[in-house]
Amino acid sequence: MRSFPTSTSPKFPYFLTVFFLFLSTSNSQNFLRRGSSLSVEDDSDILISPDKTFSCGFYGMGQNAYWFSIWFTNSKDRTVVWMANRDRPANGRGSRVSLRRDGAMVLADVDGSIIWETNTSTNARRAELLDTGNLVIKGPGGKILWQSFNFPTDTLLPKQFFTKNTKLIARLHRESFASGYFSFFFDNDNVLRLIYDGPDISSIYWPNPEFDVFQNGRTNYNSSRIAVYDEMGHFISSDQFQFVASDMGSLRIKRRLTMDYDGNLRLYSLNNDTGLWMVSWEALSQLCHVHGICGRNGICVNTPEPKCSCPPGYEITEPGNWNKGCKPSFNETLSQSQQVKFVQLPHVEYWGFDLNYSPSISMDSCMTLCLEDYRCKAFSYRVTEKRLCFTKSVLFNGYQSPSFPANIFLKLPVSVDASELATLTGTDLVCQSAESETIIGPPSMYNINNKKMRWVYLYSFASAIGFIELLFVASGWWFLFRKQGVPNLVEDGYHVILSRFRRFTYAELKKATRNFKEELGRGGSGAVYKGILTDERVVAVKRLENMYQGEDVFWAEMSTIGKINHMNLVRMWGFCSEGKHRLLVYEHMENQSLDKHLFSPKFLEWKDRFGVALGTAKGLAYLHHECLEWVIHCDVKPGNILLDSEFEPKIADFGLAKLSQRGGNSSDFSRIRGTKGYMAPEWATNLPITAKVDVYSYGVVILEIVKGIPVSNWVIEGGEEHESELTRFVKVVKRKIHRGEDSWIEEIVDPRLNGQFSRNQAARIVEIGISCVEEDRNKRPTMDSVVQALLECQDEPKNQFSDSQ
Ligand SMILES: *[C@@H]1O[C@H](CO)[C@@H](O)[C@H](O)[C@H]1NC(C)=O
Ligand SMILES: *[C@@H]1O[C@H](CO)[C@@H](O)[C@H](O)[C@H]1NC(C)=O
Ligand SMILES: *[C@@H]1O[C@H](CO)[C@@H](O)[C@H](O)[C@H]1NC(C)=O
Ligand SMILES: *[C@@H]1O[C@H](CO)[C@@H](O)[C@H](O)[C@H]1NC(C)=O
Repeated sequence: MRSFPTSTSPKFPYFLTVFFLFLSTSNSQNFLRRGSSLSVEDDSDILISPDKTFSCGFYGMGQNAYWFSIWFTNSKDRTVVWMANRDRPANGRGSRVSLRRDGAMVLADVDGSIIWETNTSTNARRAELLDTGNLVIKGPGGKILWQSFNFPTDTLLPKQFFTKNTKLIARLHRESFASGYFSFFFDNDNVLRLIYDGPDISSIYWPNPEFDVFQNGRTNYNSSRIAVYDEMGHFISSDQFQFVASDMGSLRIKRRLTMDYDGNLRLYSLNNDTGLWMVSWEALSQLCHVHGICGRNGICVNTPEPKCSCPPGYEITEPGNWNKGCKPSFNETLSQSQQVKFVQLPHVEYWGFDLNYSPSISMDSCMTLCLEDYRCKAFSYRVTEKRLCFTKSVLFNGYQSPSFPANIFLKLPVSVDASELATLTGTDLVCQSAESETIIGPPSMYNINNKKMRWVYLYSFASAIGFIELLFVASGWWFLFRKQGVPNLVEDGYHVILSRFRRFTYAELKKATRNFKEELGRGGSGAVYKGILTDERVVAVKRLENMYQGEDVFWAEMSTIGKINHMNLVRMWGFCSEGKHRLLVYEHMENQSLDKHLFSPKFLEWKDRFGVALGTAKGLAYLHHECLEWVIHCDVKPGNILLDSEFEPKIADFGLAKLSQRGGNSSDFSRIRGTKGYMAPEWATNLPITAKVDVYSYGVVILEIVKGIPVSNWVIEGGEEHESELTRFVKVVKRKIHRGEDSWIEEIVDPRLNGQFSRNQAARIVEIGISCVEEDRNKRPTMDSVVQALLECQDEPKNQFSDSQ
């Protein structure tokens, strides 16, 4: 864990205080009249509860995603407690929420589509944000017609009733507000429970599923199904479950009960000096008891922080995303004749999904049971007073605990190397890879009343969002304050925020690049130079040109890139902002960009071309979906895809799309970026820009990867005058596929490959490419599904290589 530099932290709250003062003085209205609305562009368009505890308005994340939300005004990370429609963010331009004349409260996107609405009718008078954090729509005489308390997202506030109709659903992961797989709910037998309800499996894990209702201290007789907690921190439920907060007593403490993305349910208290949250109760003391936390086949290990790991013979399905678990690295359809072996995993259990439970049998008999059943993937054998044998059809809810009295025996083909046995090291349960940095507030230890040191979770994700938010604000402020002559405060603010990145001086970078001697390339926003830092790291230094626009671009890059870390995205090491100079320092890529390989005499082999198509798709999918909702690249092209020494692609220049200038008068979102030939048709129309513009550009790139010729040089016979070569190409290929011509793929693939390519993979890439360049963006696939489609044809046996030449 990296610690936050304490020497600089005291400045932080000061900066924040000013920031919040600004917010609270700019608008202290707590209601919205019928016929009026809040606009996404205007930062001061928010409702604030009379005691200022809660704010309600548009909450932004990434570059262009906004949710109509309620949050704690004074928490450092502006913790969100409610969202109107968490699964569909609104555009950062032109979106608004209105209490319409017809009485319905409506959230509309820029194109007028309705993202969310209430069912209230003409007798609605006003929407009001109460001190409790409840947004209510009132009718004549103050009658409540609708209230947000009836539609919680992942958080329950004091005095908010939890009922048979409500559920707290965790977010998907810490970088996303979308509905995830863990939820807190009243089960059909009237008992409060926590469940993992994933795409293919569901499993209840709290209260302890090994015990029955009464052993867990609950009752299932009371069907009123109601629970609530008070401001003092006392929770009671109709199934007789209750708890008190470890800091119970004070009415002044602000609390929230949140179903966290890691599957634990926690009660938090806000420290009003630091703006940070402290855990004052949690449902599970050991995170590894959360089911599904490491996905299918994954094993949770306490080290002591929970980490996920794959057993021998398995590998992580999607690095960085444990929801997807581990996949076998061998062929899962074990044939009858294939030799198998059992590999022991000491003190490991996979909970549930037993094919068979047999008490009092020997280990050999247990092994035979598993051998003879083709469905059996492993067996668990416990030597307690009885000898217990469980055969497993599905490996799920895996965890390792030194005190656990059983071992798992995994059934694996003999050919699998299981030498890494029992070294379950694991990686963090976070969206980013293990080397990632938490920008503010690393998880740390707190001493909670009961004297036990506990792992406390500072909600570092939200801090990271807070970071982005603050940067947005800080950048705006910086411009504002600079003009008014008080720049130091805000400059200090962002020094502190950014202290995680290395901040370079101009002199340092000038020296590293030997006065900007070796130019590596030149893009829309500036030239890139090679440099060597004093610690001998080779870096690429991008010098942003065109100062006026450069500052925007600079901040856009800073706010997004700082948080992004994925193997298929170029990593940023630091930056320089000095006087007029704006420079960015990136890792250096040995093999330069894709165009230098694809369109030159030293062309890429097929295997590398497929790898580049897949890696690029993964990088874009990460930008669009995984870690930061809606980071749109806007300039995907071979020149922006760099290759490392293994020809693994890394996307450069992301985050350069201009910040949506909140409060500005231009209504364009980053028009016009991109490069001719790769730009989606909607750039030329008035449609809002979505991630589908990148899908289009990606489609052009992979078609070029197959053909080996830049799209600008394609010559396709036939077609009409006004049609582009790409349109013509798509038409011709579709016709050939339709006619069932066998050789169509050979005609397309780069002849320089001399027939050395996988027909199947090439055909798949062309199909995907064609669907990506559909005129109608709704017909284009998402980058996530492109990754899936490519993964399906990733491992091709050699003999499928065409030898037709
Ligand atoms: C609106 O929905 C709530 C909750 O679903 C329901 O109780 C209420 O009766 C509905 N009101 C109208 C006017 O349909
Ligand atoms: C059921 O629980 C509710 C809420 O805790 C309580 O008010 C009610 O008296 C209980 N009913 C019975 C029959 O115990
Ligand atoms: C928060 O502030 C109030 C007064 O503004 C104070 O009475 C209370 O003790 C503070 N709570 C904490 C946890 O510091
Ligand atoms: C796995 O093995 C089965 C039987 O040997 C075979 O039919 C199947 O094609 C193999 N699958 C893969 C992906 O190699």
